[in-house]
Amino acid sequence: MSKCNIPFSRSSPIYPTPRIPYHLTYMTLSPEQLIESLQWRYATKAFDAEKKIPADTWATIEESMLLTPSSFGLQPWKFIVITDQTIKDSLLAQSWGQAQVTQCSHMVVLCAKDTMEKNDIEAWLHRLVEVRGADRESLNDYAAMMHGFFGSMDETQTLSWAKNQVYIALGQLMTSAAVLGIDACPLEGIVPPEYDRILGLEGTGYTTTVGCAMGYRSSEDKYASLAKVRYTRDQILESL
Ligand SMILES: Cc1cc2nc3c(=O)[nH]c(=O)nc-3n(C[C@H](O)[C@H](O)[C@H](O)COP(=O)(O)O)c2cc1C
Repeated sequence: MSKCNIPFSRSSPIYPTPRIPYHLTYMTLSPEQLIESLQWRYATKAFDAEKKIPADTWATIEESMLLTPSSFGLQPWKFIVITDQTIKDSLLAQSWGQAQVTQCSHMVVLCAKDTMEKNDIEAWLHRLVEVRGADRESLNDYAAMMHGFFGSMDETQTLSWAKNQVYIALGQLMTSAAVLGIDACPLEGIVPPEYDRILGLEGTGYTTTVGCAMGYRSSEDKYASLAKVRYTRDQILESL
């Protein structure tokens, strides 16, 4: 994993919460800029295969993936970043022939953790103690709550929970990309078991959930200029 070189990372080796948010001290993303970025982004159908995402920009995107929040903080996922052209090419036939997979600069495969066992919860608590210097004993109630939560679910429900978390990461990934001017195409049109086989995930405890091709849009992509289609505010939003 490359190290992120954005300023707030210097204050701590882990994931610091800056006292004053970075955007307020270094630059401000205005409401207009945010909406402009979200309008600008679209599910890119054709990438410019010659254009690669620079390493520092990519490091920031990776950092944003790592900062994704999750239920209990358990992070039941793995993110596989593919730049190897041969591997990207081999995914094409398992991606409904969607060329974004081979044209993109970076292909991210977001994988969900199959199970959440006692030792997984312990590993997370260990990490909490490590980072925050907390006393393990003080986390007993929290541990009991997690054990109770997962104890009440079968394997299918646990995997479904994990996949829900993975989709939060996908959302964060796409929004971060948009703000940084990187194009992306989320891809559910893939064959997860075949991805698992190609990426050597079988037996690892992780399973392919969704893909995201990332890079720069091709000037030929006619989808870039299409109007965004969303339901109206009244149809979606309720204010009480
Ligand atoms: C979870 C998810 C899976 C998607 N899978 C595909 C896909 O396999 N291929 C594709 O071209 N677009 C895919 N899309 C893109 C959607 O069709 C697109 O986001 C939607 O039509 C809204 O358009 P916009 O993203 O351009 O604003 C997917 C989007 C999401 C959120």
